[in-house]
Amino acid sequence: MSHKRGIAWPLENNEDSTDIFPEDRIRWFYNWSADKRSNRNTEFVPMLWTGNENDANQLGEKVRSQGASHILGFNEPERTEQAHISPGDGARIWKQYVEPLRGQGIRLGSPSIASTEEGLNWLQAFLNEGCQIDFLALHWYGRGVDNFIGYITNVRERFGSQYSVWVTEFACTSWNRNEPVHQDEINQFFEQSLARLDGTDWVERYAWFGAMRHLPDDLGSGNCLIGGDGQLSELGRK
Ligand code: BGC
Repeated sequence: MSHKRGIAWPLENNEDSTDIFPEDRIRWFYNWSADKRSNRNTEFVPMLWTGNENDANQLGEKVRSQGASHILGFNEPERTEQAHISPGDGARIWKQYVEPLRGQGIRLGSPSIASTEEGLNWLQAFLNEGCQIDFLALHWYGRGVDNFIGYITNVRERFGSQYSVWVTEFACTSWNRNEPVHQDEINQFFEQSLARLDGTDWVERYAWFGAMRHLPDDLGSGNCLIGGDGQLSELGRK
C-alpha cells in the first residue's frame, strides 16, 4: 500500500468507523477537524476548518497533545458554504496562531482551495499577504486523469515548485445527476490517478472523496468507498 494514501473521514458518518479501513491500507487520515476522535494508531492530521479565533487559539495545544507533525488549513475558504473567510482575515489568523507552529517543527498545509478561479485567486491573495506554508492542499473533482494531474501540476507551477502537494479531496464526477459517471470509469480513474500520484515525487499524500456510504446524486454514489451494507465497496477495496 502506498505511503501516500489516506482517508478523509466525514464526522457526520455516524454509521461507520474509521476502523473499516485496515491499518495496512491507509497511512494517515484527517476528518476536517482538529480532534482525532478515534483510538486508531494511524497518523492523524488536524485541520483548522475555519478562521474561528477560538479554534485557532486551541490548535497549538491540540497539535501537541495529539503528537501531530502536519496540519491542514481552512477548508475551501473562498466558498460561502465552507470556511468562508477573506484572504486578509485568514492571513491575520494564520500569522497569529498557525505560523508559530512551524517553529515547533510542524509542517503547514495551505488552506484547501477548490479547483476554481475563486479558489486560486483566494490562495494567491493569501500568499501575497506573506503567509508561510510548507505544502499545497488541493481539491479536484471532474473527469479524466490527465485533466486532474494537469491541474495539480499547473497549480504547483503557479504558486511555486518549492511546495509539495497533498490532494485532500478528489473524485470522478460529471457534477450532473442526470448523467452519472459509469462505475467502470470511476474505477479506472481511481486506479490510474493513484498510480500517477504515487509516481509523482512532489505529491506527498492524497485522500479520495469519499469514505462514506452515501454521496449527493450530482457527485455520484459510485465514488463511495463504503457500500450500503457497511463493508468496503469494490472501490474501497482497491
Ligand atoms: C466539509 C466537511 C464534511 C465533508 C464530508 C466537506 O466538504 O467541509 O465538513 O465533513 O465535506 O461531507
